[in-house]
Amino acid sequence: MLDELNQIEKNALDSLQSVADPAALEAWRVAQLGRSSPLMSVFAGLGKLSKEERPAVGQAANQVKVALESALEEKSAQVKNAALAKSLAEEKLDVTLPGRGVNIGRLHPATQQLRRVLDILAEMGFQVYTSREVESDDMNFQALNFPLHHPAREMQDSFYVETQGRGDNPLLMRTHTSPGQIRAMREASAMNPQNPPPIRIALPGMCFRYEQITARSEIQFNQVEGLAVGEGITFADLKGTLADFAHRMFGQDARVRFRASYFPFTEPSAEMDIECFVCGGKGCGVCKNSGWLEILGCGMVHPVVLQNGGYDPKRYTGFAFGMGPERQLMLRNKINDIRYFWGNDVRFLEQF
Ligand code: PHE
Repeated sequence: MLDELNQIEKNALDSLQSVADPAALEAWRVAQLGRSSPLMSVFAGLGKLSKEERPAVGQAANQVKVALESALEEKSAQVKNAALAKSLAEEKLDVTLPGRGVNIGRLHPATQQLRRVLDILAEMGFQVYTSREVESDDMNFQALNFPLHHPAREMQDSFYVETQGRGDNPLLMRTHTSPGQIRAMREASAMNPQNPPPIRIALPGMCFRYEQITARSEIQFNQVEGLAVGEGITFADLKGTLADFAHRMFGQDARVRFRASYFPFTEPSAEMDIECFVCGGKGCGVCKNSGWLEILGCGMVHPVVLQNGGYDPKRYTGFAFGMGPERQLMLRNKINDIRYFWGNDVRFLEQF
């Protein structure tokens, strides 16, 4: 038995000589120290030996095991060093290769589109007026002619920020950019209450609605609102201005149409569609076979709203409109899910 162990050790160490790479080393480990190796079968057979023989054989087998394990460890280090030396010799660094490009950040697609809209409106004489995102019920609804409990509020479910102790005037995240109309008019009319100056502004920014998030609706989105107030402004000015905007944004040939609609803060109210730029009006999946795409809501500023802004509705008139930059981008680029915008996925973002 002891001779056999000597032989096992000698054979194992001999065969280790020729091992030169990690795969061969692993094969050697399995063959010499694995469950069905000759050494392990000695251990397995210990039980069959006589009481006198067992201690000596057991001890010798253990010594062989320790010897093989330390030989394995030593060889493993040698194999690793050899592999490193080989790769250092073969894979030389080419310092003349051009470097990797730096990934430069850019504006979010929604911001890019928002700025396109503002650029066009600026060319048409609209100044940017930024207004707050946390609003009072008063500004977001009541001053805009949505009385308390008015059913039109249903379309704009709200995130309330503070209700305690505020009675009928809780704080909420603005559901549209329209409260900026009131702020801008009040600011302007306070400067000269007898003769408030004309206004031509664009109100951009994030709006928030308490919605179920789906492919078509998000809880946050941008709007750009336009407001023009002055003497003698008519519905013809509204149509001309918005048709001009559509040509500048979607191309000189873009056809538009106005459909009657309802908003509490405009009267009359309308929605503007543009002829579908995907199918040219023939009908397709993007326009849902109607040939038209809804682009914005608009209307003549309601007398009550003018009054609330400090403008005498007998003397002044005005028009307002509101549109969604994300929606425009979705139509333009056939993006079928609004959740991409705030999903923070670079694979989406880097396409813009
Ligand atoms: N505030 C309206 C909305 O969010 C859009 C709108 C703005 C309509 C201005 C008319 C005039 O739905």
